[in-house]
Amino acid sequence: MSEPLVLGIETSCDETGFALVRGRELLADVTASSMDEHARFGGIVPEVASRAHLEAFVPTLDAALDAAGCRLEDVDAVAVTAGPGLVGSLTVGLAAAKSLALALDRPLYGVNHVIGHIAVDELVHGAFPDHFVGLVVSGGHTSLLEVRDIATDVVELGQTLDDAAGEAFDKVGRLLGLPYPGGPHVDRLSQQGDRTAIRFPRGLSRGKDAVRHPYDFSFSGLKTAVARYVEGVEDAGEELPAADVAASFSEAVADVLVSKTLAACQRTGTRTVVIGGGFSANSRLRELAAERGAVHGIEVRIPPIRYCTDNGAMIAALGSAMLRSGVAPSAAGIPADSGMP
Ligand code: KG4
Ligand code: ZN
Repeated sequence: MSEPLVLGIETSCDETGFALVRGRELLADVTASSMDEHARFGGIVPEVASRAHLEAFVPTLDAALDAAGCRLEDVDAVAVTAGPGLVGSLTVGLAAAKSLALALDRPLYGVNHVIGHIAVDELVHGAFPDHFVGLVVSGGHTSLLEVRDIATDVVELGQTLDDAAGEAFDKVGRLLGLPYPGGPHVDRLSQQGDRTAIRFPRGLSRGKDAVRHPYDFSFSGLKTAVARYVEGVEDAGEELPAADVAASFSEAVADVLVSKTLAACQRTGTRTVVIGGGFSANSRLRELAAERGAVHGIEVRIPPIRYCTDNGAMIAALGSAMLRSGVAPSAAGIPADSGMP
């Protein structure tokens, strides 16, 4: 008998995503985004995002079913993001997913969005090894995970104590006068700069801080250092070497992310790293992780960029893994948990 067909639904932020997955095979993945509506505000407006999910829900679901060549009745289980995320956005997805599960009389799985960012890699690079380290980096999260079973055994080794990596990039983008969200713009600009031009701090990687927080991150000091540097140049009436700032800043972020991830591999005795989340689109992170992973004999798995940003495939992948591991379905009344750890 073939494996169950899982419908994955993602609405935790500004993307409305639907995907159909059978086992570890991705049949369709369709995403609508309301980012254009938020860009002019310089940040996500929660009410706008919630309404956009409501409007995009049915057309995006239909598009995903069409792309997979299946009908709603063919779905064997419904997986939906239960948290973390914007409570209004999560509520739209959860309410609709509950209705679908009820109407179809199928089990409902509320899943963790952050873990989904890692789970999606199974659809691309195949089954995970028995034990590995996951790094989730996005606009909202920077977490280092030790994984034995993606559905049942994920332990957080560390996380950011202040800004997420993507958030720090967005703030530096603003300092450099780039459009929102600044991450991809800073990345592009950094490719024309000298990454050794300015030595920016690597948060929590030296002295007592490093001992107390071996796998935690801190990017707010780095962001402040960039702000001070920009101010200093402006006060001196000099021209800002924006590409060098972008490159040196990117280097500092990638360096600390990769160093701590490889240190976690060493401590846990694992040979594989899986990186996910919107920030894993970052070119320097990809480069440095591959480079240093090769030196240490660690396999580095990063899904293609379209599966790094928020999408339904990550949720369907995790739902599918939960079914495989025999996890019980969620209660019918499962709430939105915007602060889910
Ligand atoms: O995972 P994601 O799509 O949404 C969240 O769950 O947060 O991540 C988006 C974040 C934004 O902060 C964006 O600026 C950043 O990832 N980002 C990048 C790049 N592409 C996206 N940051 C640096 N370099 C990139 N290439
Ligand atoms: Zn995300």
